[in-house]
Amino acid sequence: MSTPLIKVSNLSKQYGDLLAVADVSFELPPSGSIGIVGESGSGKTTVAKILVGLERATSGKIEVEGQDWSLPAKNSKERRERAKYLQIVFQDPYSSLDPRQSIGTALREALSISMKDSDEVIVRASELADLVGLPQRILELRPAKLSGGQRQRVAIARALASNPKALILDESVAALDVSIQAQILNLLVDIREQTGIAYILVSHDLAVVRHFADSLIVMKNGNVVERGQTEAVMDQPNHEYTKLLLASVPGPGWVPGKRSI
Ligand SMILES: Nc1ncnc2c1ncn2[C@@H]1O[C@H](COP(=O)(O)OP(=O)(O)OP(=O)(O)O)[C@@H](O)[C@H]1O
Ligand SMILES: [Mg+2]
Repeated sequence: MSTPLIKVSNLSKQYGDLLAVADVSFELPPSGSIGIVGESGSGKTTVAKILVGLERATSGKIEVEGQDWSLPAKNSKERRERAKYLQIVFQDPYSSLDPRQSIGTALREALSISMKDSDEVIVRASELADLVGLPQRILELRPAKLSGGQRQRVAIARALASNPKALILDESVAALDVSIQAQILNLLVDIREQTGIAYILVSHDLAVVRHFADSLIVMKNGNVVERGQTEAVMDQPNHEYTKLLLASVPGPGWVPGKRSI
C-alpha cells in the first residue's frame, strides 16, 4: 500500500471530565475517501477540528504525507502551508461567509492567499465557479441572494481555492433537502475524478456515506466501534451499534423495501 496522505494514530481529546475522542486511529490514502459516522456527540467534529488545527489533541499523532501535524500550526506561514493539504467545509456555510462580501470577492480573497498575480486570481475564481457548477453571475451576488445549495457550492469552491489534497466535509449536505444533497454529492464525486482530491466525510447519515466513502469508521462515545470497507460494513455490520445506526437512518440511497419510511 502507498504511504497514506493522512495518518491518525491514537488520537484523544479530553474536555474536562469528558473523553470526547478516545484513541481514534485511521488512514486516508491519496485520492481516497473515508467516512466517519456516529450519532450526535460521538466525537466526529472534534476529530475533524483537530485535523485542521481548530482544536488541539490531548494525545495522539497526526501525520500528513509523513509530516508531523500533531500540534496546531505555529504561525501563518505554517498555516498557509497546511492549507495546501487539508481544508474543511462545515454544515452551515452561511455563518462562514461574510454577508457584505460578494461571492467573487470571497473566492478571490481565498485565492490571493496562495496566488500573487491578480489577473490569474480573477481567472481562477471564475474556473472555481465552473468547477462547482455555479453560474458566473453568482460571483456578483452576496450570500443572502443564494439558495442553501448554492451557498454550499460556494463553501466548497472556497475550500478548493488552495488546491488541497484532501477535503473534510462535516455534515456538509445535512441541512439541504434530499435532491440538493444528491446534487452536491455527485458534484463532489466529479471533483474527485477531476482533481484526485481525497475526502473525509463526516456524517450521521450512513446512507450518504454508503455512496461516497471507500471505507468508514463508526464512532460511539469517542471510540471507534467498527471499521472497514464501506460495502462490507454496511452489508454485514458486526457491532450492535452499527446495526442500530443502519436501521434508524433512512435517507438518500436507502434501499427501498428494506424498511419503510
Ligand atoms: N469545546 C467543547 N467544550 C466541551 N465539550 C465539547 C466541546 N466541543 C465538543 N464537546 C463535547 O464533545 C462531544 C463530542 O462532540 P462533537 O461535536 O465532536 O460530536 P459530533 O459527533 O460531531 O456530533 P454531531 O453529530 O451532533 O455534530 C460532545 O459531548 C460535545 O458536547
Ligand atoms: Mg458534528
